[in-house]
Amino acid sequence: MGNNHSSTRARHGNGTMKLRNKKSKQQLMEREEIKESAKSRFHLPKNDQDIDRMQLQHFLFKHIWEDKNYSSPIEQVLKSGDCRVLDAGCGPGAWLLEMSTQHPSTKFYGIDIAAVFPSEIKPTNLNFYQCDINGGLPFEDNYFDFVRMSLMITSLKADQWVNVIRELVRVLKPGGHLELIEKELLVNNAGPHFAFMVKNIMSFIQSTGINGYITQQIPFIFSSIPSLINIRSEARIIPIGPLGGQSGLIYGELLEMYFKNKLIDVLPRFMNITEKEYLNLWERCQLEFNIHATTTKLFRFWAQKDVIDDDDDNNNNDN
Ligand SMILES: C[S@@+](CC[C@H](N)C(=O)[O-])C[C@H]1O[C@@H](n2cnc3c(N)ncnc32)[C@H](O)[C@@H]1O
Repeated sequence: MGNNHSSTRARHGNGTMKLRNKKSKQQLMEREEIKESAKSRFHLPKNDQDIDRMQLQHFLFKHIWEDKNYSSPIEQVLKSGDCRVLDAGCGPGAWLLEMSTQHPSTKFYGIDIAAVFPSEIKPTNLNFYQCDINGGLPFEDNYFDFVRMSLMITSLKADQWVNVIRELVRVLKPGGHLELIEKELLVNNAGPHFAFMVKNIMSFIQSTGINGYITQQIPFIFSSIPSLINIRSEARIIPIGPLGGQSGLIYGELLEMYFKNKLIDVLPRFMNITEKEYLNLWERCQLEFNIHATTTKLFRFWAQKDVIDDDDDNNNNDN
């Protein structure tokens, strides 16, 4: 058999070459398809490491916010016990697991398009639902006392934000609070390689229809919704790298996971460089963190739903 094959190869040397070329062309096409689908799935959790990263990020961001899980004035309503809380785009549910354990008589709900949340081992006052927030939430109007949505900047397309926030307001009770938590994607005091990397990330995500500057626009979206009052926001610095102490080191590790596990699927191709060149560039960025005190920002935006809602306004105007 082996001999026959090699003689065939010898006789049709050029044909074999063509076959090889064809095969590698097909392999290339398959790789292209994989990369294309990685781009279209970029807004979804990728694997266990990506889920671990989200969980670790939750604890770091809570620590950066003086260990407070929320900024809205909801202590009283949580204490009252008779209350419902929603986390939209909850991911693995780290915030919900913590809050539902601390407030056993409050009912907590998490929704996410990907079933990355725990289905069995969870407190009984916590329920998860798999659904696409862009298709509307499976809850009636005025249902929740507190609604939050955290770190969706790379998950929602630019033109989806207004409708999603309106949907969150729809399910919020009059008098209830809405809170959004978002990072800024831009960084301060970056070295040249990291600045170059961030510039490419911004261009890449813009190319997928995401607005990398949405964080700065959230207060304006809130203001454009008549039923939202008492709009507030606060920011905290997120240090990157060893010059930022323990938090900087942890955020550096989170970035390492993000660059090596997630961005590597899409960014080298977008930048038209090989994976090896991309990893070299990332190594240079990490070296820069030792000499540049690079930072980014984390924001919380919160507002209250007015007890006189839009419909009442409209009815009054009609009369
Ligand atoms: C970056 S993670 C944030 C998870 C969590 N909120 C946190 O702060 O750690 C974004 C989450 O949004 C979910 N997501 C993306 N698009 C969504 C959609 N259209 N509807 C519901 N969830 C969505 C993803 O599956 C992912 O779990």
